[in-house]
Amino acid sequence: MKNSNYLKALQQQNADRYVPVWFLRQAGRYLPEYKAVRARFSDFFEMIKTPQVCCELTLQPLRRFHLDAAITFSDILTIPEALGNEISFIEGRGPVFKEAIRNGDNPKLDIVGFKNLDYVFEATQLIKSKIDVPLIGFAGSPWTIFIYSFYGESPKDFNLVREFVAKKPEQTKEILTTYTDVTIKYLKGQIDAGADCLQVFDSWGGILDQGYEEFSLKFINDIRAAIDPEIPLILYAKGMKIMLHLNATEINCFNLDQNENIDEYINKPITIQGNIDPNDFNQDEEKVLALAENIFEKYSQCENYVCNVGSGITPNIDPNKVGLFLQRLRVLNSK
Ligand code: CP3
Repeated sequence: MKNSNYLKALQQQNADRYVPVWFLRQAGRYLPEYKAVRARFSDFFEMIKTPQVCCELTLQPLRRFHLDAAITFSDILTIPEALGNEISFIEGRGPVFKEAIRNGDNPKLDIVGFKNLDYVFEATQLIKSKIDVPLIGFAGSPWTIFIYSFYGESPKDFNLVREFVAKKPEQTKEILTTYTDVTIKYLKGQIDAGADCLQVFDSWGGILDQGYEEFSLKFINDIRAAIDPEIPLILYAKGMKIMLHLNATEINCFNLDQNENIDEYINKPITIQGNIDPNDFNQDEEKVLALAENIFEKYSQCENYVCNVGSGITPNIDPNKVGLFLQRLRVLNSK
């Protein structure tokens, strides 16, 4: 690996004046080259089940920009799909499951289906053979996967799931335990295939106020405890004031969303990644350049900082502005 700046930062040991950078959803619909590949597939799962295509989509942003990490092109919903859910992605609506717990359907927990995830491991191996930066493997948190299985789609309000959890805490925990067991195998498979570090996306953790440690963090901690301690693990707990739980976890890095105040975190013994509003890239060129300069000035002395966004790059972002930002950061980093 030629460039391990990202791994050094994850270990809080980035002693160089260098700000490592990568972006959530750095591949995807804001890139015309992604849209060209996507147009060849009617079904998103058919696309991500083709390792050569996952590899190509992972490499697309690395060819265009100077980035310090790659993230395997896949999705967090591979796990529920492998457990027997039929999932389609509908334009403008997002993922839709054929069955959902809220409709009275039983949770799909067909553990045998796990073998289907070999396509992700094959993609991981292929990507790893073609890059010289660290590769990030990933999965959804058990709680976030539960939310999708419960609603069968991205939820709009949370009353129903809160009611279910309050009425059936033990059944909820059984389902979460099954997701945890499968996720551990899945993440270990990605490590065996070559991933250098892992990110867990707890995209719906923020809806759990008091219950966060009991229904989400506990299972993420079980995952952390089961994975080789040498492998850094990053947690993205969207909408959650994760600082409140700093002492309740051995996670190596928090990916902060844009509503957090990064200054509250940066002096703590943990790596901090994220926090930039992706829409900041759509400002005037001078402001985009100033953003890169401010970040370098503020954080290049930190041994535990990774430049990233607080939520994924969306299709409305101009890739040229993203490029402008990265170019300026690269110049500052190489001084
Ligand atoms: O560069 C990368 O980060 C690409 C890999 C990646 C995707 N999804 C590709 C994708 C990653 C890391 C994810 C994570 C993911 N998927 C999360 C966690 C992060 C977050 O945003 O909170 C979640 C909640 C999902 C579930 C999901 N997948 C949704 C809600 C959708 C549809 C809405 C949307 O954002 O597009 C997807 C589909 C999906 N996953 C697309 C991509 C590029 C778009 C599908 C398409 O091209 O039609």
